[in-house]
Amino acid sequence: MTSILPSLLSADFGALGEEIAKIEPVADGLHLDVMDGRFVPNLSFGPLVVAAVRRRTRLPLHVHLMVEAPERLIPAFVDAGATSLTVHVETCPHLHRTIEEIRTAGVSPGATLNPATPLCLLTPILPELDVLLIMSVDPGFGGQRFLPLALPKIAEARRLLDQTGSGADLQVDGGVTADNCRGLIVAGARTLIAGTAIFDTADPRAAVVALREHSQP
Ligand code: DX5
Ligand code: ZN
Repeated sequence: MTSILPSLLSADFGALGEEIAKIEPVADGLHLDVMDGRFVPNLSFGPLVVAAVRRRTRLPLHVHLMVEAPERLIPAFVDAGATSLTVHVETCPHLHRTIEEIRTAGVSPGATLNPATPLCLLTPILPELDVLLIMSVDPGFGGQRFLPLALPKIAEARRLLDQTGSGADLQVDGGVTADNCRGLIVAGARTLIAGTAIFDTADPRAAVVALREHSQP
């Protein structure tokens, strides 16, 4: 069964508690986008908001760090209650060390890469990952169109994970909709992240259920 992680970036920040309550019974976790205005041209939120979300729900919190030098922030997001921390290879010259620091801090390490970054940059680190996130938009904003160049990357990531016997969760982030979700699962993804396709609808709970149903291969 496909896991669905609603991305809070598209939720109403003035009513986050209510937004979470809408999807909590049907979501497998939450995806939280942290942006620093440097690695990506947008600012979102930091550990304070993640801690506030932690107090509102028991769902796993998957934190996507779109920030420069993410290793500085590991303790703050661990204290905030993150379940997983996913860093960009483009921001981590010492990716192995950063992944190790995340695991040592007691949360699940994840790695991701921009659409134009080749997957081979993550191959050496795959055995250390709990989450492999494939970006299907250039990160920084919700509501962008899915980039089809992500599809062969998902398939290649699936092949590599299976080949190495890795149990890492293969996630896809960006432009996921009820129309394209099935193709992502067929290509090998296990978890889909969606923001606008869930929160920019009249019934976010129904949107989560629909995404999961449409994903069945
Ligand atoms: C983009 C973020 C995504 C975003 C997805 O930089 O990493 O998580 O919230 O939003 P949608 O589903 O609207 O593309
Ligand atoms: Zn994200």
